[in-house]
Amino acid sequence: MVRFRRLRSDERIRSMMRETRLHQKDFIYPLFVIEGENIKNPMESMPGIYQYSIDRLPEILELVKAAGIGGIMLFGIPQHKDPQGSQAYAKDGITQRAVRFIRKHYPEIYIVVDVCLCEYTSHGHCGMVSGTEILNDETLPLLAKMALSLVEAGADMVAPSDMMDGRVAAIRSALDEAGFAQTPIMAYSAKFASAYYGPFRDAAHSAPGFGDRKSYQMDFANGREALRELASDIDEGADIVMVKPALAYLDVLKEAALSFDIPFAVYNVSGEYAMVKAAAANGWIDEKRIVMENLTAMKRAGAKILITYHALDAANWCIEDSE
Ligand code: PBG
Ligand code: ZN
Repeated sequence: MVRFRRLRSDERIRSMMRETRLHQKDFIYPLFVIEGENIKNPMESMPGIYQYSIDRLPEILELVKAAGIGGIMLFGIPQHKDPQGSQAYAKDGITQRAVRFIRKHYPEIYIVVDVCLCEYTSHGHCGMVSGTEILNDETLPLLAKMALSLVEAGADMVAPSDMMDGRVAAIRSALDEAGFAQTPIMAYSAKFASAYYGPFRDAAHSAPGFGDRKSYQMDFANGREALRELASDIDEGADIVMVKPALAYLDVLKEAALSFDIPFAVYNVSGEYAMVKAAAANGWIDEKRIVMENLTAMKRAGAKILITYHALDAANWCIEDSE
């Protein structure tokens, strides 16, 4: 008889046999920055998550620093929106100012910026719009401009989340031409049109004003197509590729991680966070155990980077458990 239980008999041997271990450096924490002063707005559907004005950022950045996580991912919420999303690439746009502030006061924090127009456009779509059509090629130069202006402000890495075809190549060449050949691109490559983004769209004021995102984000039924999307972003020069959302798409992540020899990120999105927080608030689940189990599953499936709203809690649990 094979006695599997020999290696499970107590925590000393279990801990030695453990194949996947979470570390605080695995995590990236999404952060919402809003225009105005003295603002710390709680997000109703994302308990524990707030929109911060720049002057209030230090209180959360201190926690980020103390948690020793890998980095943050910034989302800006502008006051002014227009059809071209001009605040996305304005020199003094909210995200550019936030990046400069963090770069100046917290030089040790690794800053990733989400590159997409939906928070900045009046119609709420991730690209330029003509009638009810979301234009692809007309959007590319704007995304490239946005990425470049954020890197000029001091961002360490750009993460395009728009799902326009060809945007990785457009951003890569804009960065290279401006002398930023060393700035990595983390592409949201297999990003599915998902109901799990609901709470985020409230937090980032980025719900589409008409229609939906199904003409650019992927059909959630398609795993094989995800491999083509990933291959094409890798080919265009992505340094890290992402699967998003996480839990319902671990099959996609696993297959992709076995197919491509490149670092993977996974985005544990707002709806996934909201479900865990709601059940935990009701006392129906044990929050710490559920979160650590979920995040371990994402890493086990092949993700190197876990983008998660649980990042600060999970980092502290990692530190706690290693003591
Ligand atoms: C912007 C963007 C979205 C998310 C990340 N970047 C929303 C969307 O595509 O509608 C979702 C993040 C989350 O739900 O936590 N394109
Ligand atoms: Zn978008």
